[in-house]
Amino acid sequence: MKEAILNLLKKNNDDFLSGQIISEKLNVSRTSIWKHINILKKDGYIIDSSSKKGYKLISSPDILTYEEIKDHLHTKYIGKNFLHFDTIDSTNTEAKRLADNGEPCGTVIVSEEQNTGHGRLGRAWISPKYKGIWVSIILRPEVNPIKVPKITQVGAASMINALKSLKIDAQVKWPNDIIINHKKICGILTEMSAELNRVHYVVMGIGINANLDKEDFSEDVFKKATSLKIETGSKIDRKLLIANFLNEFEELYSEFSTNSTVKKSIDICKKNSAIIGRDIKIISDGVETYARAIDISEEGQLVVKYQDGSIKNLISSEISVRGLNEYI
Ligand code: BTN
Repeated sequence: MKEAILNLLKKNNDDFLSGQIISEKLNVSRTSIWKHINILKKDGYIIDSSSKKGYKLISSPDILTYEEIKDHLHTKYIGKNFLHFDTIDSTNTEAKRLADNGEPCGTVIVSEEQNTGHGRLGRAWISPKYKGIWVSIILRPEVNPIKVPKITQVGAASMINALKSLKIDAQVKWPNDIIINHKKICGILTEMSAELNRVHYVVMGIGINANLDKEDFSEDVFKKATSLKIETGSKIDRKLLIANFLNEFEELYSEFSTNSTVKKSIDICKKNSAIIGRDIKIISDGVETYARAIDISEEGQLVVKYQDGSIKNLISSEISVRGLNEYI
């Protein structure tokens, strides 16, 4: 009901809407409207109330509910089932719980903060309230599990395009980081539940450091990570960025869901790569080796050339990539 009232107020943005009209349109009592208006106010909406004129929406809070992003969202199925939390352990963990209980493909889980957000290789992911975009998508691709890591490339390419739509240039650090000025602003964690030859579901989690301030990072993390706000000097419209990302993702993911290929995404990742053509350090099981990154294969693997001239395709599961002297 509060969503329906909010929709009416939004449509009537610049003017008061009488309790009588809301009551007739939604077939609810004036008392019920008043109660829901108070809930909206608690959610952060500023609403002018007048016993004579009714209610007028003054401003909406910076929150990532479906109601707040739907005007920007143009997807057919990604985000049509949309769950928003004020706080949660981890959106990926919640997505896995929901997927185990049959929640459909395209379900989007967003939280304003995470208490135990995590990244690849078990690393912690700081997720302060209202400052980032912490989101997971449930996918149910009918593919061999071996193809699933390619979805990370779709996520990375979608993020590059979404950032470009906000006039922000970023690079992909294969396999799952988005970088600005040599520091990480976004990470992708793709997890799956599968049998040997059948995927039950995939959860793709994305963390975007949108409006974090320097104080939100530990000294150590700030050497490698930053936020869009710090790098661009202005506050990011989180609603627009998440919607643009989901729009881009649905578009690029269609190539994967129809024929298990991700050529368009790989192309975007290659064009915007932070490492192709560069000498890199590869860390696997604590062992460091050096090579030149030369390509990303159609399977989403990083192609590297060692000093002895040998060429190898690296898969993402257990390795980290770094610049020779800095994070990247
Ligand atoms: C990485 O860089 O290692 C991946 C980071 C992924 C973080 C996101 S935030 C939303 C989702 N929930 C999590 O716990 N992790 C992912």
